[in-house]
Amino acid sequence: MTGRAVVKGVGHYLPARVVPNSEFEKTLDTTDEWIRSRSGIERRHFAAEGETTSDLATKAAQAALDDAGLRADQIDAIVLATSTADLTFPSAATMVQARLGMTSGYAFDVQAVCAGFVYALSNANALIVSGQAKRILVIGAETFSRIMDWTDRSTCVLFGDGAGALVLEAEESAGTPQDRGILAVDLNSDGRYRDLLYVDGGVSTHTTGYLRMQGNQVFRHAVEKLAQTAETALEKAGLHSADVDWIVPHQANIRIIQGTAKKMGLPMEKVVVTVQDHGNTSAASIPLALSVGKQRGQIQRGDLVVTEAIGGGLAWGAVVLRW
Ligand code: UT7
Repeated sequence: MTGRAVVKGVGHYLPARVVPNSEFEKTLDTTDEWIRSRSGIERRHFAAEGETTSDLATKAAQAALDDAGLRADQIDAIVLATSTADLTFPSAATMVQARLGMTSGYAFDVQAVCAGFVYALSNANALIVSGQAKRILVIGAETFSRIMDWTDRSTCVLFGDGAGALVLEAEESAGTPQDRGILAVDLNSDGRYRDLLYVDGGVSTHTTGYLRMQGNQVFRHAVEKLAQTAETALEKAGLHSADVDWIVPHQANIRIIQGTAKKMGLPMEKVVVTVQDHGNTSAASIPLALSVGKQRGQIQRGDLVVTEAIGGGLAWGAVVLRW
């Protein structure tokens, strides 16, 4: 028998304000056509003034708890992936813990930028498999609108705000690739690529800073590394691309998503795509897509799901799980 971390619930929250591409035509030398054709993005949500990452995260977490039929006091831990926490400290995770009324257990943030949710899932899985928690809320939540340089057309049209969450629960399984739950993880980073995607400020430089990206360079790495990490994770699980029911990729660019599916030999019919509606929500994009994919009736119990993501660091990775 093997302990597995099995998905018991999923949920998401998007801020009310929807911003179509045409909004950017008013202030920047850009067009709806350029943004759609280069990225696949049509609109994105932006948090209201005063609405923070922990606000979005709390609503997504509550939705996941409701979906699982659980109360917050039945959760042992919260792992929250974000690069845009409300404050330098305490963690956004402990703020969510308090807002949910959870007075025991433990909560912490994970920061791996756009790969954050994959890293958070890996951490949560390790805590469950090692017996340090029975039930964990795994959240991805971001307010990237706060770190946009609104004069930089090459970045500010690409990102959005949002949050998604999963409830994972320990379950004894046969220890085979047919088990439900997280079956394998592959994580990677290479700090030599720091300058390809970063924020030019931070606590120890006394600034907040803005996101800077050499988009075409990140694009090149993404196409090369995403299919590779997904295939490595599948191999670790004793599975192959042909076994996959759904790829749920980080939603940064439809061309990267298509390129990765093609390299894995999978048709787009097996890919959950939300980038047109959410833009790139960094660590929130995968749990948002999982939640929307379930709502649409795409992801069903027993389906083999592969998530993969890459972002600042560079940091990248994949998780294979059976829903
Ligand atoms: O989530 C973390 C990981 N991030 C990503 O995965 C993002 C990866 N990168 C991308 O998605 C794409 O590289 C972009 C969507 C950012 C850009 O697409 P691209 O096909 O790589 O375009 P490019 O950066 O090579 O730029 C092509 C042209 C440039 O003009 P010149 O130098 O050819 O005259 C840009 O200045 O497009 C120009 N451009 C724009 N034009 C209109 C850049 N941004 C805009 C814009 N509107 N918003």
